[in-house]
Amino acid sequence: MNAFYLTTPLYYVNAKPHLGHAYTTIIADCLARAHRQRGEQVFLLTGTDEHGEKIAQAAQAQGITPKEFVDKTSGTFHSLWQQLGISYDHFIRTTDADHIHTVQKILETLRPQLELGRFKFWYCVPCETSFGLTEIETAKAVCPQCQRPVQQTEEEDYYLPLEKHRAWLKEYILKNPKFIQPESRRNEVMAMLANELPALCITRPKERVSWGIEVPFSTTHVTYVWFDALLNYISALGWPDGEKFKLFWKETGAIHLVGKDIIRHHCLYWPIVLHALGIDPPKTIFAHGWWLVKGEKMSKSKGNIVDPGAVVDAYGLDAFRYFLLRDVPFGDDGVFSEESFVKRINSDLSNDLGNLVYRTLTMIEKHTGGKIPAGKQDARMMEQIALADAGTWKYLQQVAPSEALKTLWELIRWANQQVEENAPWTLAKEGKRQELEQFLYQLADTVRAILLLTWPFMPTAAESAWKQLGMSSDLAAERLPETLSRPIPIGQAIAKGTPLFPRIQLTAD
Ligand code: ME8
Ligand code: MG
Repeated sequence: MNAFYLTTPLYYVNAKPHLGHAYTTIIADCLARAHRQRGEQVFLLTGTDEHGEKIAQAAQAQGITPKEFVDKTSGTFHSLWQQLGISYDHFIRTTDADHIHTVQKILETLRPQLELGRFKFWYCVPCETSFGLTEIETAKAVCPQCQRPVQQTEEEDYYLPLEKHRAWLKEYILKNPKFIQPESRRNEVMAMLANELPALCITRPKERVSWGIEVPFSTTHVTYVWFDALLNYISALGWPDGEKFKLFWKETGAIHLVGKDIIRHHCLYWPIVLHALGIDPPKTIFAHGWWLVKGEKMSKSKGNIVDPGAVVDAYGLDAFRYFLLRDVPFGDDGVFSEESFVKRINSDLSNDLGNLVYRTLTMIEKHTGGKIPAGKQDARMMEQIALADAGTWKYLQQVAPSEALKTLWELIRWANQQVEENAPWTLAKEGKRQELEQFLYQLADTVRAILLLTWPFMPTAAESAWKQLGMSSDLAAERLPETLSRPIPIGQAIAKGTPLFPRIQLTAD
């Protein structure tokens, strides 16, 4: 059995989750479901990043302890993922005892390679990232990544030298063109590797930041939050000798899904930390683009956010998932507006998929007494299904859900077109009983295949339509590609319900 290890970033718990977090996590869920559906052994990891200065400040602002604060906000991520149907296998918190223990063990392991140094640098608290003195203009004092104010600080910390790993990493990236995707991000990382790499600070003085993992060999330091957080990808697997670490890291290789905001941490620091530990790099790092609001990155600390729970309450979970998975090609930036959302849902979900399911069931109710009529699988139809199957799977393996959905929609539109061309209502009027039954059989069988392929993207809608079609099996337990060609049972009673995706009226403000 093939294994598949997929991770999302560990989100900061300083504020509530927004559309951006939902985006990465929904893509991850869709991929995990698709790989499970293909019979693979999947481990989907997500969780929350809970240490550091920015979290401590957020807790202080609410007048509660950091621990009380992180328990509360980690809970809001947890419950949003329930609401969004995220099928993670493990939810890790960087405050988990196991994780803390692993981070400390790794610090001990790296200790001989560390250097103690006292430096002056700029620090961006929202990014929890430091910059060299020459990287930022003193007069402006803004973060080159997020444009927010930075502070100058001077402190003594432990550092991991990176420069001696630079040649190795450059060569590794050149030899493994799929390591960093898409290509634009890979080029960006190669540009970062053109110059000497400053050492990576991996601690913070307790007197400045006390909310962090204790450094086992220094009573005056805690672990720097990024160093702590990145290690989750292996601590969750039971590094160094857990069964999961062996299967999912060593034999399979990790796929990290991240936003383009954190490629420096994932594509430079993380592979080098692993290399320093003698561990292989992850298999792939996919960096997607940003959801923008008025041309700016949507972000918690800017307050320009779209609340995923509110969109789901207003329009339903499947519509929300569909929009995020379909609207932007993976890697590009996207703009969220209610208008573009409603437009896409009405055209793709109401007019195409919803309409296909509803009219199929309506005709079966009307012409064949609510039962799947007798018929045979049609060769041309099976060919269309095979194309959609191959296309969606190919694109999902390339982490291109938008392309996968485009391919699936070709099948859905083709099926709707078949209804127009074969005009079953005319066949009924002309008393062409056998042709009518054969056509409705074929149509129901195509809908069955479409629902199998739709499931990873919109599990709830697909499961509901599956039941309406009268299927008795558990859709989530069906395995592809085998079940795609298993014919729909003749005589099966359908259970038509309300349309899956009623048209949305956009009220003018
Ligand atoms: O960076 N558009 O956490 P974070 C698209 N704790 N995706 C977005 C987005 C947007 N506008 N805003 C956020 C951290 N995201 C660290 C990670 S990992 C070991 C530690 C998504 O809460 C996207 O996946 O700032 C981005 O990379 C991530 O949330 C950053 O979440
Ligand atoms: Mg961020």
